[in-house]
Amino acid sequence: MSMQKVIKSTDLNKDLSNILTQLHFDRLFVLTDENTEKLCYPFIRDNEQIAKAGKIVIKAGDNNKNIESLASIWKFLSENGATRHSLLVNLGGGMLTDIGGFAAASFKRGIRCINIPTTLLGAVDAAVGGKTGINFNGLKNEIGAFAPAETVLIDSLFFQSLDHQNFLSGYAEMIKHGLIDSDEVWKRTISFDTEEIDYSKLKELVVESVGVKERIVEIDPFEKGLRKALNLGHTIGHAFESLSYEINKPVQHGYAVAWGTICELYLSQKFCNFPKDKLYSTIYFIKDNYDGFPFDCDDYERLYEYMKHDKKNESADTVNFTLLSDVGKVKIDQTASKEDIFESIDFLRESVGL
Ligand code: GLY
Repeated sequence: MSMQKVIKSTDLNKDLSNILTQLHFDRLFVLTDENTEKLCYPFIRDNEQIAKAGKIVIKAGDNNKNIESLASIWKFLSENGATRHSLLVNLGGGMLTDIGGFAAASFKRGIRCINIPTTLLGAVDAAVGGKTGINFNGLKNEIGAFAPAETVLIDSLFFQSLDHQNFLSGYAEMIKHGLIDSDEVWKRTISFDTEEIDYSKLKELVVESVGVKERIVEIDPFEKGLRKALNLGHTIGHAFESLSYEINKPVQHGYAVAWGTICELYLSQKFCNFPKDKLYSTIYFIKDNYDGFPFDCDDYERLYEYMKHDKKNESADTVNFTLLSDVGKVKIDQTASKEDIFESIDFLRESVGL
């Protein structure tokens, strides 16, 4: 898989102009959703090339990361003369860069794209590393491909207008990066003041956090081994997220991951001796910030069904986890029984006091 360039920009339009000049293309397209069209597109529309580009607008929200939205992107590209030498600029959060990346990867067997993430979640996770796709048949990211964007252009100017929930949703992935990387990054992440946000400090943390992901993806782009570290918190987290959509009480990805992280650190403590003091410091931060856990024990069986469908599993009857024996010490390909998983959700509910 080709490596992608990640640019931590301080001047979005200048960097975008440079990139567009370097990449030779016949036609340019910009993909936004209804929100980023209003709130973020104005930041780039004065760029001469962007002003002339074909603009594709899809509905916002993870429930629209589906085959219908994907088909509408393909249709626009097809009806507006896109060729294999065309370029797609994906301007939006994780939903947008996931579907835009997959549209680019699949249109005429692949055209190039640039990601400009406009959310913290997009910047620290979704836009970087080449995972693209859509939800299908009630399952998250069921259809997709590893297809890195040519360039990811990250500018923190977008983060200042994020609402607090969207900020926290992205921040959960930064906690995960701290946990899988080192004591230093983890401590810095859980000491950050999320109420009075210092945006220049946040920018430094984002650069550090993206660096953690880049280093891992460079070594293992196709998730054969080390990249599984990035799945910490996601096996149980994805089940929370999927069930929340099924029952029409959607929770943001990062909230589900934050709760999933507590469960999976509990399993880490139980099976790999993850230090208790680090477990409780992490819980303290998550409890302080991520409230509203919406499930009780009546939901456990449904949640378990979702975990059994997780594409990371190696067989139909086991649920695969990434656990830690300490901060920065990753144990991939771990399994846990149904009883242990239920115990970890009990632990989550007790520890966050819901
Ligand atoms: N979101 C996890 C990964 O990119 O591997």
